[in-house]
Amino acid sequence: PLVLHVLGARPNFVKAAPVVRGLDELGVRQGIIHTGQHYDALMSDVFFADLGLPSPVANLGVGSGTHAKQTAALLVGLEEVFMAQEPDLVIVYGDVNSTLAAILVCAKLGVPTAHVEAGLRSFDRGMPEEVNRIVTDSLSDLLFATSPEALSYLAAEGVPAAKTHLVGNPMIDSLFAALPSLDPAPVVERLGIPSRYAVATLHRPANVDSPEAALELVSAVLDVAAQIPLVVPMHPRGRAQLAAVGLVEGPNVKVVDPLGYVDFLSLVRGAALVVTDSGGVQEETTMLGVPCLTVRPNTERPITVTHGTNKLVTPAGLPAAASKALSDGAATPAGELPVLWDGASGPRIARVVASWLKGENLSP
Ligand code: UD1
Ligand code: UDP
Repeated sequence: PLVLHVLGARPNFVKAAPVVRGLDELGVRQGIIHTGQHYDALMSDVFFADLGLPSPVANLGVGSGTHAKQTAALLVGLEEVFMAQEPDLVIVYGDVNSTLAAILVCAKLGVPTAHVEAGLRSFDRGMPEEVNRIVTDSLSDLLFATSPEALSYLAAEGVPAAKTHLVGNPMIDSLFAALPSLDPAPVVERLGIPSRYAVATLHRPANVDSPEAALELVSAVLDVAAQIPLVVPMHPRGRAQLAAVGLVEGPNVKVVDPLGYVDFLSLVRGAALVVTDSGGVQEETTMLGVPCLTVRPNTERPITVTHGTNKLVTPAGLPAAASKALSDGAATPAGELPVLWDGASGPRIARVVASWLKGENLSP
């Protein structure tokens, strides 16, 4: 049997690496289809190198565009690949447009699918990712959940329990695998920043796309920078808009290109505070015990708030929340670390997939 993984964007690579490794150990024939949704070397190649991912068997080069244009290109490209390669199972990750397109194509071709990171819900359909999550989960044959509440959301939406598996978080497998290589010192030295600093990553459309939202956010972020030197590895999405409203290099602000996986997590590990609107970064800071302020009205990862170091803030509330986090010092997780976020999720997923390929059903 042949398993194909569809990967397109930065967080996909991080989630897939442990699953690919796990399947490799079980001798499953597999290949990576890179859609080309992310294409800059610092958004893509560096992750293949840092995570030890095998080279894709195909790169569709779909690139950027409006949702319709990008999704249309993804649909056409993926259909051709699946018709030619006739996979027995396609594995998709997270909630990006590449994920959505792959699931739709497979549903129409009758190709079975598995969704890694199923059941996350922000209950905010204004987020493009929420639409992708709902459609993807409703069409998947195997659903791998990172947390108990994700399972409960799937049950509430009528997904049969036989399709769902609580496996923990493969993004955390990648974090654990990288841990011995995470050293802030060389990155701090290269960036020329003091040893006490904060890190900010911002790319949600609701935060960066409109000049009004971007201005409100940047004012708050510059207030944080007045409290502690701030490094901002800039996602390409926010670059122009955030710069236009004042997020530029200054005495207390270091604006840099996106960082590679090991460099970025090294920086996060040594940070006094992280400000973000990323999904994955909320989880990584929880596991590293670094205080995290998420500038969003909601999160599809509430376990990072109830169990970890994450707090949701409004732009207006960010400066005071940062000041409190910095004076509190080291973050105390809100509870026990999430169950099964133990570095063994990739092998767990691989075992279920391998049994499924043999026609066995490991479901509860
Ligand atoms: C996408 C995902 C988002 C995820 C994020 C991870 C969707 C709908 N969104 O958002 O869920 O959190 O990836 O980083 O799938 N660009 C470049 N170089 C690149 C890629 C993008 O310059 O290599 C620029 C282009 O101007 C592009 C913009 O970034 O228009 C947005 O890229 P896109 O992939 O459409 O969405 P993201 O905002 O990256
Ligand atoms: N990341 C990285 N370099 C950066 C910013 C983020 O390697 O400059 C990593 C981060 O550690 C996490 C993943 O990229 O593993 C998260 O991707 P992103 O925030 O783009 O997407 P989201 O999780 O919001 O979908």
